[in-house]
Amino acid sequence: MSGVNITSVLQETRKFPPAKEFSATAHVKSEAEYDELWWKAKDDPTGFWGSMSQNLDWFEPFDTVLEGEMPNTKWFVGGRLNASYNCVDRHLKTWRKNKAAIIWEGEPGDTRVLTYQDLHRETCKFANVLKSLGVQSGDRVTIYMPLVPEIIVAMLACARIGAVHSIIFGGFSADAVAERNNDAQAKVVITADGGWRRGKEVELKHAVDESLEKSHTVQQVVVLRRTGTPITMVPGRDHWWHDLMAEASPDCEAASLDSEHPLFILYTSGSTGKPKGVLHSTAGYTLGTMMTSKWVFDLNDTDTYWCTADVGWITGHSYVCYGPLANGATVMMYEGAPNWPHDGRFWEIIEKYKVTIFYTAPTAIRSFIRWGDEWPNKHDLTSLRLLGSVGEPINPEAWMWYHKVIGGERCPIVDTWWQTETGSIMISPLPGATTTKPGSCTRPLPGVVPDIVSKEGESLPDNTGGLLVMRQPWPSMLRTLYNDHERFLKTYFSEIPGCYFAGDGARRDEDGCYWVMGRVDDVLNVSGHRLSTMEVESALVSHPLVAEAAVVGFPHEIKGEGICCFVTLTTGDGDDALKQQLKDHVRKQIGALASPDMIRFSNALPKTRSGKIMRRLLRDIAAGRERVQDTTTLEDYGVLAKLRASEE
Ligand code: WTA
Repeated sequence: MSGVNITSVLQETRKFPPAKEFSATAHVKSEAEYDELWWKAKDDPTGFWGSMSQNLDWFEPFDTVLEGEMPNTKWFVGGRLNASYNCVDRHLKTWRKNKAAIIWEGEPGDTRVLTYQDLHRETCKFANVLKSLGVQSGDRVTIYMPLVPEIIVAMLACARIGAVHSIIFGGFSADAVAERNNDAQAKVVITADGGWRRGKEVELKHAVDESLEKSHTVQQVVVLRRTGTPITMVPGRDHWWHDLMAEASPDCEAASLDSEHPLFILYTSGSTGKPKGVLHSTAGYTLGTMMTSKWVFDLNDTDTYWCTADVGWITGHSYVCYGPLANGATVMMYEGAPNWPHDGRFWEIIEKYKVTIFYTAPTAIRSFIRWGDEWPNKHDLTSLRLLGSVGEPINPEAWMWYHKVIGGERCPIVDTWWQTETGSIMISPLPGATTTKPGSCTRPLPGVVPDIVSKEGESLPDNTGGLLVMRQPWPSMLRTLYNDHERFLKTYFSEIPGCYFAGDGARRDEDGCYWVMGRVDDVLNVSGHRLSTMEVESALVSHPLVAEAAVVGFPHEIKGEGICCFVTLTTGDGDDALKQQLKDHVRKQIGALASPDMIRFSNALPKTRSGKIMRRLLRDIAAGRERVQDTTTLEDYGVLAKLRASEE
């Protein structure tokens, strides 16, 4: 046993300094250069961000860099600009006019390239379409689309006229769409007939039709034809994208918007209650994603940059759309699954388009490992120069595999820690400057001042696990939770007074590198997607046969965390058919991404005398751990034995 421990300790002390050749041409070339930037930003945040803001194009300059203190901050006060202008228009005045902005491949193999000029024309036309449907500045527009270029066009068109987009990932169910439409009071929904995933059609329009029976603020629906599947078009409400675009003018000036004008809402899971509508602002968010794309991905004009995230998640918002486009980069997009029609699709795409930067998630990397080295080995991956990871902690073995098999021991790996709420990357190596360590997201970016604190808010010494907090505000920080500022204050700023706290546990080592250990609240991280145990529990108890449910995560080889549900029935013992029925029920309520991995029936749940479910005990049982934690507060000991016997 002790041998095993020593090995894992040894693994964690491996260090990979940046290669000289990489550093020589990088935007940030050395540890010393990084230190200088970081200290400048820490000591004089307004001076630092004031000078960084010159990387954006402003319609009117701001008066004050930062007003107020965390949590109520305003950045670049009095300034006016437009995110769509910064992502598209300004490149048209340069040689980038005819540069590829988006190189796209559909799952069936169809391809498209949009230059910046193309993207500008399509965006302007669609902005006029939105206006013709009555969308005004500040109105909310839901986007529920496959990963096609039009999703970027739709986002940028909203930004162009000051409408606030709320993108819902295509894997969410009709009920989830309805809930989000209602919360945002969306006026228009932009969707498609369907999208392709693993050779099958994801039927988006059908889900929208069903959702609209439960959400009554939506007046118009725009439908992109993607799969050609038969759908119902409701006269007066539903319009084909191509019909509206055929009529639209290609001239649409970008609206001059206040720095703090809301850019988008993105719903994410919290530990309690309904999903939280994280709201981001125009200037701070655009600047944050632009600068971090440049620093972390070391973006250059010669790069073909591919972030595999769906645009429906924050990673897609920040690092498929706003960040790279603000830099004038060439963005690769692929619609479908990594294992369709074969397990080497990603590597085929990298070889075909000579992708240079590849940004994906640990859950995907663990799948690649399982599918076997023969798939990447079949392809020439030497165009790659940088690899990235995001979504959950990456296990050192997966990091090493990524480094060797995909990176050819040549490409630096940037393990980027951040959240929907932070808007842009917070802690990550800078590839030309930072010595990386497998499993650590290393050091904070310029302008980011993290700390590790105890529950009482005291700074903890190095190598002590604690809560990860931010001590200073940063421009791309969320501004509020839509329509619920109280919840915003309570969730992020009440736990540790004066600091931003978003629920992760971490430690900092003697080199100042951060090691994120995972969530400390009831948020699950399933395949890098955030889900709350509460949401899955509410979905379960909405089934007529379920009296009570408790949901916990358990270690899962591919997904990182799997979903285990302990269920007490109103009558009967339950059988496999009911297990399947409950899994389907959760899929219908939330979506396929929340489908339970394990359902265990039990006639009672372990509770404290005051009636609180003891989740830590359930976590042990779900993980198959025999070790029983402190059970002195448990009301009925017999329950534990019964639960263990409830095996799937
Ligand atoms: C986790 C995704 C360790 C973390 C951008 C965080 C990570 C949550 C990392 C946010 C990483 C994300 N190392 N953990 N590199 N990246 N996480 O909002 O628990 O979908 O709080 O944003 O994912 O998930 P979200």
